[in-house]
Amino acid sequence: MSDLFDYSGRTVFVAGGTSGINLGVARAFAQAGASVGVLSRSPDKVRAAVDSIGESGVTVLGFAADVRDYEAVAQGIGAICGEIGELDVLVSGAAGNFPAAVDTMSAGAFAAVVDIDLKGTFNVLRAGREHLRAPGASVITISAPQSTIPMAMQAHACAAKAGVDMLTKCAALEWGHHGIRVNAVMPGPIEDTEGMARLAPTPQMADLVTRSVPMGRYGTAQEIADCCLWLASPYAAYVNGAIIPVDGGWSLGGASEVFTAMRNMLAG
Ligand code: NAP
Ligand code: COA
Repeated sequence: MSDLFDYSGRTVFVAGGTSGINLGVARAFAQAGASVGVLSRSPDKVRAAVDSIGESGVTVLGFAADVRDYEAVAQGIGAICGEIGELDVLVSGAAGNFPAAVDTMSAGAFAAVVDIDLKGTFNVLRAGREHLRAPGASVITISAPQSTIPMAMQAHACAAKAGVDMLTKCAALEWGHHGIRVNAVMPGPIEDTEGMARLAPTPQMADLVTRSVPMGRYGTAQEIADCCLWLASPYAAYVNGAIIPVDGGWSLGGASEVFTAMRNMLAG
């Protein structure tokens, strides 16, 4: 699907774009011709991502920073935009997650996820705003089914991603007047990702998840990237403030049930 879209001469920044889904998104924009910037904590992951995305032959730059640190994020985005120019697309997808029950997780554990997912998304949008092409830019946050569906062992991620959705909609409301669209993509369970390795670590759990998806399979990072390519394109010119599930129908019901089943398995 990627070849339907031509991003030559465009610029894209992906916060958290050094592994998994976000790396797939960054790579897809690069393969479509865009100059790309990525940011995450690990300098090694940043280097590896820049090298692998750069195989597309486009300009790729990276910066190591923690999205919880506003000044570092602002410096990173500023430095990269100083090289590639103002942004046509800003993707905010850095996140952390692990299964933990409300009655046993520490306050620090809850705070870590809220700080990375929600406050980190604010930092990326706030710091990125002055570098967005106006009119014309497209901002994409990465949500999760947890944002609207209560799930056992996911209170931290549910609270954080619900906040991400609301932040997305508020920014869409404010920035629409400037010709900047802000939307969220909500992935379902995606294969070969750290997220699902943590949430469904055994073959038995992965099978439970697979069977709970109406389409009967995990999605791919490319399928999330394809939605981002569409969202940032003129084909989605009037889409603003939308939270778009790309989840095989998982959020229609199975997503909640499967986490309750997994909690029961863990409880023995
Ligand atoms: P992943 O590979 O672990 O990707 C997370 C990325 O964020 C990495 O590049 C990581 O790099 C970076 N990161 C984490 N904490 C950070 C921080 N504090 N500051 C800056 N960067 C940080 O995970 P994934 O499973 O592909 O998930 C990617 C996104 O999709 C997340 O927003 C997640 O909530 C969402 N999602 C995933 C699934 C799924 O099935 N996997 C489903 C729904 C939604 P560093 O370690 O170098 O910081
Ligand atoms: N279960 C329960 N609590 C956990 C946990 C787990 N599996 N992993 C970490 N925590 C707690 C820690 O004990 C700590 O609590 P404390 O402050 O009370 O001591 C708190 O969470 C922060 O942990 P720490 O390791 O210091 O955080 P960090 O900032 O270095 O890392 C995480 C953030 C915890 C989210 C880490 O898992 C991470 O970096 N994840 C990124 C990758 C990822 O999760 N990918 C999937 C995205 S969907």
